[in-house]
Amino acid sequence: MAKKAKVHEIVKYPDPVLAKRGETITVFDDKLKTLVEEMFESMYAAQGIGLAAPQIGISQRLTVIDVSFKKNPDDKVVLINPEIISETGKERAEEGCLSIPDIYGDVDRAARVTVRATDLEGNLFEREATELLARAFQHEIDHLHGKLFIDYLSFLKRRGVMARWEDLKEKYPGQRRVLSPTPVTADGNDGGEKR
Ligand code: NI
Repeated sequence: MAKKAKVHEIVKYPDPVLAKRGETITVFDDKLKTLVEEMFESMYAAQGIGLAAPQIGISQRLTVIDVSFKKNPDDKVVLINPEIISETGKERAEEGCLSIPDIYGDVDRAARVTVRATDLEGNLFEREATELLARAFQHEIDHLHGKLFIDYLSFLKRRGVMARWEDLKEKYPGQRRVLSPTPVTADGNDGGEKR
């Protein structure tokens, strides 16, 4: 790739696009491939391991994930029009989200999921996942349904989180993230990955 893909700003809570259901993607062309490249670059720039299209203001059912953050090329996953077709078990772990920076909370998720999605060529595939990838699948697919991890928190916990976000969001004028000159270090769920 000669040219570096464009880095988009990450939309912040409570932007209404984050609460909308994404539209199904029906055209699998070069434009879509470019958008996917841009989403990976935007995700890496924001120190994330998952990014859904609504988080860059595009209300479509598309998400990119890389749970090893560039370490293993096989970990790069593109899910187009994904759905969870089976899930088993339950696991609780701390999550964060690029659209609600610096906010973390424990969320129960299925321990193992199978996702059916379309790839960039328009072919259906299925992928089973456990551990962090299973969590990333569920978190990102939620984004495509207009759902955020804070929606799972208890009333009290959510109220606490919202109060904290009220203080924090001044750091993000216009709900846009201001990139700090210091690199974002990992914290949170065994690495602080944000999705
Ligand atoms: Ni997220």
